[in-house]
Amino acid sequence: MKVTVPAVLEKKRNREKITMLTCYDYSMAVLLDRAGIDMLLVGDSCGVVFAGYENTLPVNVEEIIYHTRAVARGRKNSLVVADMPFLSYQTSINDAVYNSGLMLKNGAEAVKLEGGIEICETVRRIFLAGIPVMGHIGLTPQSVNVMGGYKVQGKTEEARKKLIESAKALEEAGAFSIVLECVPEELAKEITQQVNIPTIGIGAGRFTDGQVLVINDILGLFEGFRPKFVKKYIDLAPLIENAAKTYIDEVKKGSFPSEEHIFT
Ligand code: KIV
Repeated sequence: MKVTVPAVLEKKRNREKITMLTCYDYSMAVLLDRAGIDMLLVGDSCGVVFAGYENTLPVNVEEIIYHTRAVARGRKNSLVVADMPFLSYQTSINDAVYNSGLMLKNGAEAVKLEGGIEICETVRRIFLAGIPVMGHIGLTPQSVNVMGGYKVQGKTEEARKKLIESAKALEEAGAFSIVLECVPEELAKEITQQVNIPTIGIGAGRFTDGQVLVINDILGLFEGFRPKFVKKYIDLAPLIENAAKTYIDEVKKGSFPSEEHIFT
């Protein structure tokens, strides 16, 4: 059955866990959709795991649109959420509404924005334009330079309160869900209890309404830094490398192509 925004909200009411993975291409979208994932996030993490940038800051609107179109063509039931890249929503509310609208014109069904109270007016205006918004608080990678690195957030009493306030403000502004990234489990639990919209955790422990991870991380395809919260479900990197080695070997030896692969 098609996953819609109301269906995601319903899952929280029914205490049913919500699943989300990042996805950047058609073939993966077909597989993840078939596996039954609720939401596919076209994350700006594509900048790191797909494009090889050092962080997510260089990713632009055109790149997210390109990946969103590919993912949307591959999925049948999963809800496609497009990440709003750095500078696509911070410069003005008009830019934010316009760029969010572009995501929907290209196959997304919702957008995700990083930030708390400070972006609530932007969230409200995007929502009022008919665009479902997912919030993202805690560790917000687009602010890596302000945060001074990728660190657990919400550890002081002041930071804790600010995150709770931000979650409530995002709900009030019209967000339909909130990603909580890298926060202590107890804080994520408290936020989850204090808002009526689903929380989707990444490095936020066991008590959020759902979980999200980067697909390349869980498949063992990204060999860069792997945070503690990542679980590798399969180690594809050596399998791919070995398959490529066998192919190279067979081409060199002349055993590929064999008779079954040729036209007569
Ligand atoms: O871009 C991304 O992959 C994300 C997730 C980590 C939530 O924002």
